[in-house]
Amino acid sequence: MIDKNIRNEIIQLKKEKNVAILAHYYVDGEVQEIADYVGDSYYLAKRAMMIAQENILFCGVVFMGESAKILNPQKKVYMADDSADCPMAHMADIEKIQEVRRKYNDVAVVCYVNSTTEIKAESDVCVTSSNALKIVRALPNKFIYFIPDYNLAHYISKQVPEKKFIFNDGFCHVHKSIHSTDIRAAKQIHPDALVLAHPECTEEVLELADFIGSTSQIIDFVEQSNCSAFIICTEIGIFYDLMQRNTDKRFYSVGHRQFCPNMKKVRIENVLNKLKNLQGDIEITEDLRMAAVKPLDRMLEMTGK
Ligand code: 13P
Ligand code: SF4
Repeated sequence: MIDKNIRNEIIQLKKEKNVAILAHYYVDGEVQEIADYVGDSYYLAKRAMMIAQENILFCGVVFMGESAKILNPQKKVYMADDSADCPMAHMADIEKIQEVRRKYNDVAVVCYVNSTTEIKAESDVCVTSSNALKIVRALPNKFIYFIPDYNLAHYISKQVPEKKFIFNDGFCHVHKSIHSTDIRAAKQIHPDALVLAHPECTEEVLELADFIGSTSQIIDFVEQSNCSAFIICTEIGIFYDLMQRNTDKRFYSVGHRQFCPNMKKVRIENVLNKLKNLQGDIEITEDLRMAAVKPLDRMLEMTGK
């Protein structure tokens, strides 16, 4: 529960400074509680385009704030913590993209939204974990160079055998550190619980999952399920929303590693301090933004906005 004074101060400052707060499911529960909108990366990118306020305060990692800025150049976008960066966003190489383009004629560079603006600018289409399958399936190209995440790429490739995938070796250290042994151990203690996993997990983990989906899709699955217990294989921040919405259901973690240190930098104190001192908004040169907006726009078009 947020301290009452902090809550009131945040509400007051938001109004005074015309700010909307957007938060990802992986940030602290307190931050989710005070946010105007909470969601997965796809929802947040779309939501950012419908914000009436002139300022957006993003509670998540840098690539999320940058996506909001790319799509809304007229707004000022601030990060609650400027150093909250997703390491995977940097795990693709522009020279390698150019090399792949030279080697394959009929290739689409499919860029997971967990990527820098520079990498997006070199790509043909962006995807998130919730729409990657739909988009890859609909692409006319035979070859798919999927960056940066290997695990998501591999998971999608198995469902689209008609496409030839070229893989990249990026990964999310949080999801990669969840092991199948952790899940088997949790299953032994809670044999009736369903295993729900994010597609950034390794293949050995996904093989044990009853459901695989983005953070929002996991939340929707739980709400619609008749089952009352779930083993959750994604970042621990999602437990806040799951427990708020489903007081009659039980949720189990798979160990101490489900913790994204960057998402957890975003604390209620950062939100308050940033609102007090609204400075240092995200800046992207117009040339770079114009190049990066194309794959994001294509994603929105292909998913029906
Ligand atoms: P979602 O697209 O499911 O929100 O996931 C974002 C993310 O950072 C996963 O690690
Ligand atoms: Fe990046 Fe993984 Fe953290 Fe998501 S959970 S922000 S992919 S490091």
